[in-house]
Amino acid sequence: MSDSREPDAQPPYSTRKISVQCEINGRAMTLEAYPMARLLDVLRELPGLTGTKEGCGEGECGACAIELDGALVNSCLVPALQADGGKIRTIEGVAGSDLLQNDAVRLHAVQQAFLTHGGAQCGICTPGMILAAVNLLERNPQPSDAQIREGLAGNLCRCTGYTKIFESVVAALRASATPTPHAEPRR
Ligand code: FES
Ligand code: FES
Repeated sequence: MSDSREPDAQPPYSTRKISVQCEINGRAMTLEAYPMARLLDVLRELPGLTGTKEGCGEGECGACAIELDGALVNSCLVPALQADGGKIRTIEGVAGSDLLQNDAVRLHAVQQAFLTHGGAQCGICTPGMILAAVNLLERNPQPSDAQIREGLAGNLCRCTGYTKIFESVVAALRASATPTPHAEPRR
C-alpha cells in the first residue's frame, strides 16, 4: 500500500515561522516563531525568559502562568500567534512594578513576602503563584481571604501545603497598605 503524501509534508500551520510582534515586560519585541509553538517555549527560548516554568504542560498546574493583555493565562496552552500585537508580563517583569521600595533590587511586595514568609520551596510553582497574586491584587487591592484563595486556585504547589503561600499574599497585602516611612533627612 502506498502513501500518497509527500515525504516531507507538514501540517500547514507548522511549515513557516511568523513574526510575532508584542510587548514583553514593557519592551517592544519581534519573535520569529512557528504560529502554533507554545508561547511558554517561545518565551523561554527566544528572549531567554526562563523564569516561566513548565509543570504539567497540559493547562492544569499554573506553573507557566503569564499575563497576556492583563489576563492570567497558562502559556503552555497559548499558541505564539495569539501573542501577536499583545502585551505580555512574565515573572521577570514583576520586580519594580509597585511603589514599595524594599531594597536596591526593589522586589515587588508579593515577591518580598514570599521570601520572608517561606512561600517558596522548590520554586517550580513560584513564578506562576506570584503572578497570580500580583494580578489579583492589581484587580482587587483589598481581596477577602476567600478571594485570595480563589485567585490562587489555578496554581498547584507540590511542596508548601499552600498555607505559607496564602500567608505570603496576606503579608504582601498588609505591606502594600502600610505607607513606606520617609527617611529622616541627613544632617
Ligand atoms: S505547565 Fe502550563 S498549566 Fe501546567
Ligand atoms: S514550591 Fe515546589 S511546587 Fe510549589
